[in-house]
Amino acid sequence: MLRRTLRSLITGVTVVTTFDAEGKPRGFTANSFTSVSLEPPLVLVCIAHRAGSFPAFRAARHFAINILSESQAEISQRFASPLPDKFAGIEYRDETDKAPLIAGSLAWLDCHRHDAVEAGDHLILIGEVTRLGHQDARPLGYCGGDYLRFDSLRPASPAGARAPAASSFTPDARHGGRNP
Ligand SMILES: Cc1cc2nc3c(=O)[nH]c(=O)nc-3n(C[C@H](O)[C@H](O)[C@H](O)COP(=O)(O)O)c2cc1C
Repeated sequence: MLRRTLRSLITGVTVVTTFDAEGKPRGFTANSFTSVSLEPPLVLVCIAHRAGSFPAFRAARHFAINILSESQAEISQRFASPLPDKFAGIEYRDETDKAPLIAGSLAWLDCHRHDAVEAGDHLILIGEVTRLGHQDARPLGYCGGDYLRFDSLRPASPAGARAPAASSFTPDARHGGRNP
């Protein structure tokens, strides 16, 4: 019931990557990615204890978040599977030597591990963003167990209004007051 309810939220799709102790690239598909803080710049992602790559991520001091573009649904499927070598045939770069950056991604964030918090059957990895980049492309979406593409990104704000930037909410607004 919880899983079915949570599937009604539209999210983007990311592949979280790192190098394990042997220097082998590791990665898993995740839509639990969330921004946490701007000062300092923090993001989080949750990894299941039962994931095959869990030991690698628990030990990792660095990881990268690759935000997928609409042409990368197959990459999402591949990294959501328990294949032994998910990176075979995948083009990636590792310019910082810290985590693989998957070619064709909409955006990437290189993270230094800030904290890791146990939460039920997942570990919350909190990363401080050290480098990032993005390209002009459309995002891959996910909702109700299906991938989504946004052939036209049309604003859905009420007529004449623009949604306030998420970071510009006043404390009042956050506590149920009037939006700025
Ligand atoms: C769209 C989507 C989102 C997912 N999000 C997460 C997530 O946030 N955390 C997680 O641990 N697994 C998530 N998964 C499942 C993992 O990708 C899957 O269990 C994968 O096999 C883990 O790889 P590993 O076993 O090689 O570590 C997601 C799968 C899909 C298709």
